[in-house]
Amino acid sequence: MNTPIDETMLVRRAMQARSKAYAPYSRYAVGAAVLTMAGDIFDGCNIENATYSATVCAERVAIFKAISEGQRHLAAIAVVTENGGSPCGICRQVMREFAPDMVVLIADAEGSYRRSTVAQLLPDSFAPEDLLSH
Ligand code: THU
Repeated sequence: MNTPIDETMLVRRAMQARSKAYAPYSRYAVGAAVLTMAGDIFDGCNIENATYSATVCAERVAIFKAISEGQRHLAAIAVVTENGGSPCGICRQVMREFAPDMVVLIADAEGSYRRSTVAQLLPDSFAPEDLLSH
């Protein structure tokens, strides 16, 4: 099923998720909300760790919540930071695994956003097909 994307609503959900960020080290709170093709929304925040490297980004928390609930068809993701920062490379690769054509809304704390896609953010990517066809 194809779901029309209410972009402002998705950004708002990501803003709400951002308030749950656990970011005592960087103090850089991030929120994300992913819309599935079925019309459900899963949100996430960044969760830092005293070991630093165990930190997980907001986008991956949201996407993994969707996947672990059995929803692999993703239509869009919104990510909110203080200054409209762009998703990190690891999160782009995770987005690409499940949704190479997904819309990515990159918002700041005021809710202003720009629209991109996974294909734009991660061109010429390594893909599941590369492994499955070898
Ligand atoms: N962070 C995210 O949650 N998503 C990104 O795409 C970029 C970075 C988090 C990780 C860390 O908790 C903080 O932002 C600073 O890097």
